[in-house]
Formats: sequence, C-alpha cells, structure tokens
Amino acid sequence: MCGIVGYVGDDDALPVILDGLKRLEYRGYDSAGVCLRTDPLTVHKKAGEVDELVEAAPESSEATCGVGHTRWSTHGEPTDENAHPHADEARRYAVVHNGIIDNHAELRDELEDRGHVFESDTDTEVVPHLLSEAEGELVERLGAVVERLEGSYALACVSADSDEVVVARQDSPLVVGHGDDANYVGSDVTAFVEHTRRVSYLHDGDIARVTADSIEVWNDGESVDRAVETVDWDVEAAEKGGYEHYMLKEIHEQPRALRKTVSERTDEVEGEALLDVSDEVLAEHDRVEFVACGTSYHAALYARRLFEEYADISATAEYASEYDGPHAPEETLVVAVTQSGETADTLSATRRAAREGATTVAVTNTVGSTAARETDETVYIRAGPEIGVAATKTFASQVVTLALVAVAAGRARDALPASEASSVLADLRDVPGAVQRVLDNEDRVAETAEEYGWDDAFFYVGRRLGYPVALEGALKLKEISYDHAEGFPAGELKHGPLALVTPDTPVLAVMTDGTRPRETLNNVKEVESRGAPVVAVTSSDADEGARLADTVFRVPSLGDMEPLLANVYLQMFAYHVARLKDRPIDKPRNLAKSVTVE
Ligand code: M6R
Repeated sequence: MCGIVGYVGDDDALPVILDGLKRLEYRGYDSAGVCLRTDPLTVHKKAGEVDELVEAAPESSEATCGVGHTRWSTHGEPTDENAHPHADEARRYAVVHNGIIDNHAELRDELEDRGHVFESDTDTEVVPHLLSEAEGELVERLGAVVERLEGSYALACVSADSDEVVVARQDSPLVVGHGDDANYVGSDVTAFVEHTRRVSYLHDGDIARVTADSIEVWNDGESVDRAVETVDWDVEAAEKGGYEHYMLKEIHEQPRALRKTVSERTDEVEGEALLDVSDEVLAEHDRVEFVACGTSYHAALYARRLFEEYADISATAEYASEYDGPHAPEETLVVAVTQSGETADTLSATRRAAREGATTVAVTNTVGSTAARETDETVYIRAGPEIGVAATKTFASQVVTLALVAVAAGRARDALPASEASSVLADLRDVPGAVQRVLDNEDRVAETAEEYGWDDAFFYVGRRLGYPVALEGALKLKEISYDHAEGFPAGELKHGPLALVTPDTPVLAVMTDGTRPRETLNNVKEVESRGAPVVAVTSSDADEGARLADTVFRVPSLGDMEPLLANVYLQMFAYHVARLKDRPIDKPRNLAKSVTVE
C-alpha cells in the first residue's frame, strides 16, 4: 500500500503535505513526492524515506493546494523516476495513486502510439497522460479516465488550472477531511488528523472534488452525500509519546487498548458478552470460517479453538489468499479478521464468500474501512491507531474481541452455561492488568535478548492455543530482526524440524495453561538434549518446564488467555533482538502496514 495526502486551503500547502507524509510513512517508505499547484505544476520527488524528500524540497512554497505520496513499490523499482506524483509532459496534470492499474500496459502502448513520452516504469503514469487528453474540468476528465481503468485505485489529482484536488476511489481506501478554511484528502485519517477529526469515508466508485470551502461527491454520475464522522482519537494517539519506536509504544499501550476492547462488553452477572453482532447471526450458523493474513491469521487460529470450545461450533481458519470459498455457504459464517480492513487478500476472500451466499462479519480496527462497509456485520477491536508495521496491540485486541464473540456465540447457541461464560468474561476483563504485569518484566526480556539474540535462527513451539502464539512470535522476530525464525506445533518438531536444532538455535516454548504444557515438556527435553538453549513461557505455578528451561518467564494465571500473555513476552523479545541489531524497527525492509494488492 502507499500513503496519499492532499490539501487545499489558505496556507502554504508544502509543510502540510510533508507533515502528512511523515505520518503516513508506515504505509510505505520506498520513495516520496509532492506536487504543488502552480502553473505549470511543481513536482519534487525522491527515492527513499520522506526525510530525503524534505531535504530535497524547498522549506516553503507559494502554493495553497497540492498532493503528496509515500510509496510501497509494486510496479517499477524504488527510484526517483518511479516516485509519485506522476505528471504529463506539459506538467498540467499530476496524480498520486494507491493500488494497481491492471490494464496499464495496454493503455501505455496506446498512449505511446499517440506520441506520449513516459518517464517511469509505473502503472500510474498512464493516468496523467489520459487526463491530458480528456476534456472539460478536472473532475470531468477524471470521470472519463476512470472509465478506462481496470484494477484498484485511490487517485488524487491536481491540475495547473485551479486550486482543487480531485479524487477517485475503487477498492482502495480514501477519506476526506473537513477543516476550517481548508479541506484535506488522505489514504487514511492519519494523513491530516492533526488538522481535523471530521471526516467522510469515500465509497467505491466515488469521485470527489475538494476545494478550500467545499467537498462534493458523485457516484455513477449522481451527486451523493457521504456522512461526516468524528474520529475518536487524536494526533497524540498516533505519535511516539517518548518511546524510541512506535512498536515499543504500542506494545506498552496494550493494557490501555485492551481496556477499551472489553469496556462495557462484559456482563459477568448474567454471563453475557455485549456486542453489536446479532444473536441470530451467531445462533443460526453451524460453521465458522475465519479468513485473514499474517498476524490477523494467527489471531484467527487462536479464535478458532475458542469458538469450538465455547460455542461448540465447527470452526476453521484459512489464509485469505488460499481460501476457495465457504464449504456450505448457507450454513457458514465467514469472519474476516483484519486490523486495517483493507487487506486485498482478505477482502477478496470475503467477497467470494458473500457472492456464494455466506453471511460475513468483519472483525477490524478501522472504522469506515472497506471490510467494515462490505460485510453484513462488523465488530470493532477498538485498539486505537497502530503505526508500527509489526502488529502488536492489535493482535491482543483481536484475540480478546474474538473471545468475546465466541462467548456470545456460545450463549446464543446454548452451548455455554452462564456460569462458565461469567468466568471467561472475568478472565477477559482481567487481561489488561495481567498484560501490564508481563510488561513489568521487560528488563529481564531485554537481558535474554542480549544473551540469545545474536544467534541467526530461532524456533518457536507451542500446542493448542500456544501454536498460533508460536507462529506469531516467529513472525514478529523475522519481520523486524531479519533473523530466520519459524513457529511449529511442538509435537511436529520430531517429525522433521528437529534436524535443524543445534546449540546455536534457541527454542522458545509456549508452555502456559491452554497449551498442553506436559506434552510440550517432552519436546523441550528433545531439543535440550541436542544442546539448544530453551526459553520457556510458563504458567505461574508450573514447576517442571521451569526446571528444564534455561530461562523462564511466567504469566499470571488467566485460563485461555495465558498464551496471549505469553505472546507479550515474545513481542518484547523480538523488539529487543531487533534493537540490538539496530534494525529499522518501525519500518522493516520490503514491508508495509497494510497490503492492498493481492
Ligand atoms: O490489516 P490486516 O490485519 O489485514 O493485515 C494483515 C497482515 O498484513 C498483517 O498482520 C502483517 O502480517 C503484519 N505486518 C504483522 O506484523
């Protein structure tokens, strides 16, 4: 994905756009650029991070309108030429784009035949050339151009002729911000939240003209109103707040985020989870299929077990990109787990499910996201903005939210007695405090990272609810430290991966309640006898695992949520190993916060 920001108002557009790009950098940091509305248009762009663009661009400008972009490369290398914005030869039209234009090659051939000269290898560059050939005002030109485009796009365009930003959206998020004497455009609210919290989310097919004092939206040629909503977080929530990295801040924010996740959602007296999802939807389906990617997939794997346990319902979790559609659409509830609500693989799996007749639910962090809008029901995880590319607090909030949904399903299906539901809900309410107690051990985790962090390969093992946590621990480490890390079901080690275990491959074992720790102990013995150091995360009262491991971290007693607490140790371990190695923790190479291409 990429980040888009646009501004039209009374002030100098350049600093507003550069500030927005800094905030959006988590969406991509291969290159950055800005186009200012002058006549002809002025474009500054640079490969690398936004700071490189800031150095290359002037400190101020005369322009009061412009667009900016921070790029995660799909088509074309991360070079100056391929950086957005892209403009036509005469610098009359310029465009920033998030998404992929599938038919760009054919459009480019056609334009080159008519004499257009291209400067980049991107799919995007066809758009300004097409705009230059179209007729009418910018909004009419863009309307005509999008008719010719196949694929996904959030496009923000400026012309040398007028102070306005014209945008179009198809399968890629775009939001407009309503300010005082100024209006804004962003690929998400972070782009401009320091200026306004009043926003309208655009829908697929929308084209909008944004001027300093108006925002007009059309869909299919008809003028439409898009509701003005107020985002309930501010710029502080998206800033580092004294932490060295967003990731560390977000790890430490987990107690607060989780309090929001559970707040007013547990009625322990009645044994009810209070959610917006309807009882009928939960009661009437005999099967749940979770679809998700990356960390969200691990949350789904965790939830799958909780659904089977609390709701006595057959549940599967699949990588969204591998999903072939629901097995029995009428009987199946398809749950898309997605922090951003914009992951292309997850959206396309959910759309397939809906087309085949399944009821769909989104479990997401992002109000107004595509997943929230396209599914039958939405449950928000309420984690607040997450900027670090490596997901941390949102994993915790996803698991707790999904546990609440599993309780609600259990009650709706008469599978979970009220007394048992009350006890699960009490545990969920206690998660924030228990996470804080784990966080209080950060110094010991940092020491452990120093002791073992210099090895190059790490194995993570766990059973049952410990298995998704093993996968998540390994994903976190590989994402930010660039070390080889793999998660396995503990019992599978001896069926192959044990061949890789040596004294230089630390094994991190999740052995809390809810993970069959006794069985995992045998696997710990197997790796110990091959000389591998073992770091075990155990329940507070576990003796045996503790005796065998080289380092032991304990979690407070909390039933099925203990593996989630173990994950907090693994997050801190990954963070401190990456810090030791001086990695760019918030912006790991080749990755982006949300992946809006398949
Ligand atoms: O926004 P989503 O939850 O749909 O994103 C899914 C994955 O791309 C995401 O979890 C990714 O794996 C993170 N970088 C993990 O830290």
